[in-house]
Amino acid sequence: MAAQNKVAIVTGASAGIGQAAGMALVKAGWKVTFAARRADLLEKIVAECGAGKALAVVADVSKPESVKNLFAKTKEKFGRLDLLFNNAGMGAPAVPMDELPYEKWKEVVDVNLNGMFLCAQAAFRMMKDQVPRGGRIINNGSISAHTPRPGSAPYTATKHGVTGLTKTISLDGRKYDIACGQIDIGNAITPMTERMAQGVRQANGTTAPEPRMDPVHVGNAVVFMASLPLDVNVLTMTIMATKMPFVGRG
Ligand SMILES: NC(=O)c1ccc[n+]([C@@H]2O[C@H](COP(=O)([O-])OP(=O)(O)OC[C@H]3O[C@@H](n4cnc5c(N)ncnc54)[C@H](OP(=O)(O)O)[C@@H]3O)[C@@H](O)[C@H]2O)c1
Repeated sequence: MAAQNKVAIVTGASAGIGQAAGMALVKAGWKVTFAARRADLLEKIVAECGAGKALAVVADVSKPESVKNLFAKTKEKFGRLDLLFNNAGMGAPAVPMDELPYEKWKEVVDVNLNGMFLCAQAAFRMMKDQVPRGGRIINNGSISAHTPRPGSAPYTATKHGVTGLTKTISLDGRKYDIACGQIDIGNAITPMTERMAQGVRQANGTTAPEPRMDPVHVGNAVVFMASLPLDVNVLTMTIMATKMPFVGRG
């Protein structure tokens, strides 16, 4: 199917990586639903994309009814779904394990893991039943799906959980032509990583600024993964600022 006839939902598309990926998909010819909670930001982005190419839907991925509405609105406007970029996510301030309030733990799990599951499930249902059948789900993991930062229990645990979700969807999706892969990003310039320019805690107890990269490259990587035929899958891709502390234990 030509990109011009393909439809994507991008969650967490009002800023950062979701915005960059959604706009890269539109540029590549996709029809894109931009989803997040902030309507004003979504409307601005969709207006920039041009009429007929994009749709803004206010959605909170941690709420089942909101997710249901997101997929229904996309079906109503574009008729099908070829790609879910399951991107919406949040961080949490670095806090020692023993001081972490349960409410904060639960908030991060609700968005980063429960929200990803709800969206993946809705996409799976739609892709399984549509004609032509199938589609692709790309989950946004992180470098933290591999290794933690100090004081990051909820973020690291949920991102490790995303890896389990990716592998399970990839396996369960085989018989319905649903492919599933994961993009693990390290230090893209977005509101979430603002504090890295000033300095973030390192494993050895020091605080240091870290190199970051333009999120446009992440958007282009998502377009590459999305443009493969459904019998080909990038299961995991790591894209990171070349000199960030990850490889080489620092
Ligand atoms: N930046 C990086 O270097 C990096 C590295 C590794 C992984 N990631 C992952 O990439 C994803 C995006 O990160 P980012 O850096 O672009 O963060 P960001 O700049 O903080 O943007 C987060 C996006 O998620 C949306 N969002 C948050 N909670 C939501 C909810 N409950 N329902 C719907 N949308 C929600 C926000 O929009 P609203 O507030 O309008 O809802 C916003 O559009 C996350 O999953 C993050 O873990 C980022």
